[in-house]
Amino acid sequence: MIVALLNQKGGVGKTTLALHLAGEWARHGQRVTVIDADPQGSALDWSQQRARECLPRLFGVVGLARDTLHREAPELARDADHIVIDGPPRVASLMRSALLAADLVLIPVQPSPFDGWASAEMLSLLGEARIYRPNLAARFLLNRCGARTVIARETAESLPDHDPPVLASTIGQRVVFADTARSGRLVSEIDEDSPATREIAAFCAEIGSIAP
Ligand SMILES: Nc1ncnc2c1ncn2[C@@H]1O[C@H](COP(=O)(O)OP(=O)(O)O)[C@@H](O)[C@H]1O
Ligand SMILES: [Mg+2]
Repeated sequence: MIVALLNQKGGVGKTTLALHLAGEWARHGQRVTVIDADPQGSALDWSQQRARECLPRLFGVVGLARDTLHREAPELARDADHIVIDGPPRVASLMRSALLAADLVLIPVQPSPFDGWASAEMLSLLGEARIYRPNLAARFLLNRCGARTVIARETAESLPDHDPPVLASTIGQRVVFADTARSGRLVSEIDEDSPATREIAAFCAEIGSIAP
């Protein structure tokens, strides 16, 4: 399966969640490759930090921030059980290419009742991709959720109305995720028995249940 984490907004958790999805699959013995489609190369940085710390290699990270990505991804997919694409910010040609490569698009969003979750442009690019890929699946993924806030409750009530639909699994706002970016680790390697680790496991299990 080729899963792309896409949202033109930066800072929503594309890189964090791409690495954790890949890491969770790898921990279960699956062969995974991450495509870093962001010219900033944060996923590559993470994997280099990991190598510097002599941590075991869980999956390869390939830098492919170019709009031929959809032609190169199938080649990489031949040698892997899953490909995870860490998407680019705001570059329409790269977004189009990632959308053409993917079987499943995950749109991480920080839930807020005050503004739309995804930009009109993101949704129109998704609509455009579905002309060529009618079976392309898409889901919103609520990230950085506050546990008992009014915002979280209001959001939960409006969840069924969304298109694309919203994943049942959500990821909380947890400082441990910021530590993973710096240290080249996954939350499960920092604290195996933490809420963050459990959320990532549930998220990954739910993705596994969405057949492309
Ligand atoms: N659930 C979370 N809880 C706390 N911090 C988070 C969470 N998800 C992401 N972050 C932090 O937010 C920042 C942006 O996340 P990142 O994954 O780089 O977003 P993007 O790739 O969409 O730009 C990073 O510092 C990351 O550690
Ligand atoms: Mg990123």
